Amino acid sequence: MCGIVGYVGDRNAYPILIKGLHRLEYRGYDSAGFALVGKNGELNVYKCKGKVSALENFVEGKDVEGSCGIAHTRWATHGEPNSVNAHPHYSCTENIALIHNGIIENWALLKKALIREGYEFKSETDTEVLVNLIEYVRNTNKCSLLDAVRGALKQVIGAYAIAVVEKGREDEIIVARQSSPLVVGIGEGEYFLASDATPIVEYTDKVVYLQDGEIAVLTKNKPLRVVNFDNAECPIDVKKLEMNISELEKGGYKHFMLKEIHEQPKTIMDCLRGRLSPDSYDVILSGVRDNAYRFLSARRIIIVACGTSWHASLIGEHLIEDLCRIPVEVEYASEFRYRNPVLSPEDVVIAVSQSGETADTLAAMSLAKAAGCFVFGICNVIGSSVARASDAGCYIHVGPEISVASTKAFTGQVTVFAMIALTLANTLTRISRDRFEQLSKALLDLPALVQAELDTLDAPIKELAEKFKDSRDFIYIGRGYEFPVALEGALKLKEVSYIHADGYPAAEMKHGPIALIDKTMPVLAIAIPDALYEKTASNVQEVKARGGVVISVVSNDDEMVSKMSDYAIRVPVTDPCLMPVLVSIPLQLFAYYIADAKGLDVDQPRNLAKSVTVE
Ligand code: AGP
Ligand code: GLU
Repeated sequence: MCGIVGYVGDRNAYPILIKGLHRLEYRGYDSAGFALVGKNGELNVYKCKGKVSALENFVEGKDVEGSCGIAHTRWATHGEPNSVNAHPHYSCTENIALIHNGIIENWALLKKALIREGYEFKSETDTEVLVNLIEYVRNTNKCSLLDAVRGALKQVIGAYAIAVVEKGREDEIIVARQSSPLVVGIGEGEYFLASDATPIVEYTDKVVYLQDGEIAVLTKNKPLRVVNFDNAECPIDVKKLEMNISELEKGGYKHFMLKEIHEQPKTIMDCLRGRLSPDSYDVILSGVRDNAYRFLSARRIIIVACGTSWHASLIGEHLIEDLCRIPVEVEYASEFRYRNPVLSPEDVVIAVSQSGETADTLAAMSLAKAAGCFVFGICNVIGSSVARASDAGCYIHVGPEISVASTKAFTGQVTVFAMIALTLANTLTRISRDRFEQLSKALLDLPALVQAELDTLDAPIKELAEKFKDSRDFIYIGRGYEFPVALEGALKLKEVSYIHADGYPAAEMKHGPIALIDKTMPVLAIAIPDALYEKTASNVQEVKARGGVVISVVSNDDEMVSKMSDYAIRVPVTDPCLMPVLVSIPLQLFAYYIADAKGLDVDQPRNLAKSVTVE
């Protein structure tokens, strides 16, 4: 993982690099560093353990002049997070410096060979091997830096986005990508580069998303050059960036997570806009409409995803099976890619990813493509790798999600799944017009209901969180549509508050987990009015009978489960198949406020990163 930023032009690079690193800190934050090529061609590297703010303190008072630079915020894969392993890495002679996102898989073999050639290594990283390999090729072949990068990359197996600078070349950065994202921003005689477009947006709206196997040469005052590993020129597709800087700021909220939770009335509306007509109630998803025959003739649909996106996919499975009667399977992308799944060209594979850069999800997509499946992507980041690798797809349009813990992307994904299910059910005539319109209307009503929840629940949930902030464990239970919501609620709590939490289908409690129940084990039970309400009520009774403490999520007019519970969170009611959206909101707030009450780093929880671009 990690974030990469770079600048070459006439401006002072340091402030651009630091601001960019802050924007990318969600991608990794165990150490950070940058390299600058100064006016006289000197190459200096500054790096330290910790977050970007630690790097800022570290360089205070130091000379950080230079208008060509590369910077990195790391999420360690090889070697512990410390200042030696932090990027950039110098080559042995300190003539070249490199930053890297990803993993060089054959690093050990290459390192051995370089040691035989007299190279010495300071760090434990795979990255330092690559910078030395580049130097080795450059010196042995007496070739240009570009040719050295090409020659080295031809010997490398793995995933990477890299940026390279060299002593004496204050006007040039060389970058390359294979399976890790890299965006080049084109300014007036200047270039920006980053792992995603957020560090670039205030300087230019002209961007080029590098493709796998491409190397770009960013030279001040010269046109952009992109070549492949065989030095053949590649076409350059300049895209216009549609992004608003205010979306990247906290807008008065203490954390991005809280801001993003509160944005959901708007983001759900943005997701529906232009797709669900408030007049006719018709749903138009062009990616589904234009490929309807692929879905309709599908033997089955397989959904691949990770983490929160996997939870949203489980709800997608319920929705599609419920409304369309098409068989659906949901797979962890990481398992799917390695278990030799039975696939055929009649299968449709839906890949779900907020970032669109999750390595496991991308690998699962490649497998599906190789088997001839039709691959449909549901993602948030425009132009991301998932979007580009899909045959067709649908964006969730919830805007940049900065908090590592996903919130608005989850509700956006569920909203998109609901629209897909409605479209397919309608085309297959498996839904009556009345039911179709009822659900379309319910979707359109969601933003207002979410707003009402946020207005009434924020303060009481903050209070509730104070009471439970010292819990060691938590169990979340739900049934049917609410089981994936229980899983998601538990994941949110784990991620941001470090409290161990598990989600279970409520009825599974008696098959094992109920042994855990005593007065120290709080159970969050989702018991909303659906066909399984009474059954969930019995499960709550079973917990109470064993001395458990119950927080229930119930409807505004609930009478039964709320009485049995120690605490009740009341939510508005919509159609059961859309209730996951309304139930997830208080669970997000609960996780957030517990983490905040514990004084934790909510937006950047320990050990995590937003985009998991490594296996
Ligand atoms: C969500 O809160 C997590 N940070 C994580 O589980 C995430 O959903 C997962 O890594 C998948 O990411 P993606 O949606 O960007 O592919
Ligand atoms: N593999 C490299 C390292 O551990 C890069 C990791 C990253 O993408 O941050 O340093």
